[in-house]
Amino acid sequence: MPAPNRNAPFHFGVATSSYQIEGAVHQDGRGPSIWDRFCQEPGRIIDGSDGSVACDHYHRYPEDVALMRELGVSAYRFSVAWPRLFPEGRGKLNRAGLAFYDRLIDALLEAQITPFATLYHWDLPLALQERGGWLRRETALAFADYAAAVAGALGDRLRWYSTLNEPWVSAFVGHLTGEHAPGTQNLAAAVSAAHHLLLGHALAKQAVKAQGDHQVGIVLNLSTVYPGTERPEDQAAAQRVDAYHNGWFLDPLLRGSYPKIFGETPIPIQDGDLEEIQKPLDFLGVNYYRKTVVTASESGLLRARYLPGVGEVTQMNWEVSPEGLYDLLLRLGQETGGKIPLYITENGAAYHDELVGGRVDDPGRVHFLQVHLDAVQRARRDGAWVGGYFAWSLMDNFEWAYGYSRRFGIVYVDYATQKRVPKSSYAWYQRYIAEQRRLEAR
Ligand code: FCB
Repeated sequence: MPAPNRNAPFHFGVATSSYQIEGAVHQDGRGPSIWDRFCQEPGRIIDGSDGSVACDHYHRYPEDVALMRELGVSAYRFSVAWPRLFPEGRGKLNRAGLAFYDRLIDALLEAQITPFATLYHWDLPLALQERGGWLRRETALAFADYAAAVAGALGDRLRWYSTLNEPWVSAFVGHLTGEHAPGTQNLAAAVSAAHHLLLGHALAKQAVKAQGDHQVGIVLNLSTVYPGTERPEDQAAAQRVDAYHNGWFLDPLLRGSYPKIFGETPIPIQDGDLEEIQKPLDFLGVNYYRKTVVTASESGLLRARYLPGVGEVTQMNWEVSPEGLYDLLLRLGQETGGKIPLYITENGAAYHDELVGGRVDDPGRVHFLQVHLDAVQRARRDGAWVGGYFAWSLMDNFEWAYGYSRRFGIVYVDYATQKRVPKSSYAWYQRYIAEQRRLEAR
């Protein structure tokens, strides 16, 4: 496949992830993941729910692909569930689990939708967690073996691979705040997990590229961090928070070093790791939801206070901030020397959606998508190399610790019947994509 260039057609897509939509957790030999276990622990998930049925996408994928075809997207970002392919995390490939992705990819290609696969969207095989999970280097090696198996089996049709989704969340929300699986609360564990995740990324990237001419990148959740005032101490706080949220992964990937924000906390780096991690990416995936505003504080790990959103906020209380995305894209253009295409791999919002008379009207989400897509187009005009935009999410789904209490879809899912109802944001995005295609064709 020729390397993408700045003139390649822009992809408009939608995104999902395996545990959030598939359900069918016991089917065709899938092994348990850390999220199956985490959901069973009382108090972990706001509504006590889990992903065992979710959107039943495992069975209903033909209908979901038809919705995407109708929408007019040219790309779909989904994730492959590691425990479907390797129920024990490593060892013998489970062909029945793999067959699901075979079917899905065929259906996508048939609908002229380019598959963008994420290899790890947080559903670590439980068997690996029981041996230490991301605190062990072996997990990174197992991840590379799994990645090689995916590319080996699907690489004739699958060309786009993201190794990890939001390793910052896996490391720090999974191991420091403990709000996500595996639910650990320990800084040294988080830092160790972060390094092993990055090592896993590097090894998996190598393994996938060894299988063919593939495009391999990583997906980071990034946010522009602004100081609450111009005071020097607030600016310094913003720099610390930026180093934590953005620099912790951008620095090793782009510059081969970690920010020095956690004092003596040891990072389990071995010789050669940082060289591998720093090898060039084919693309950088950016998940963007909100900006971050902080002031200095006397307490806390980063001695920073996060200010609540002002103005318009979504149901998550995240401030609607397209300028944060614009600033981020220009900054990343600079940091990557303009050499790596950026993909907005997730962007979207939760609102209180209601099904009324068979319809879901979601003007808040329409506005959110519109202003963020405008920001992307503005950043492109001002020089940022952006290759595509994926709305999060195709449909409402299992929103991790929030269970089913937050709806991010442009398609409403009635969980009792599994009926899909396209929201007004779906119709809006459909028109937007068609209009962009008309403009491109001129
Ligand atoms: C991101 C996750 C995605 C979804 C959105 C709302 O952090 O990657 O799975 O939960 O947030």
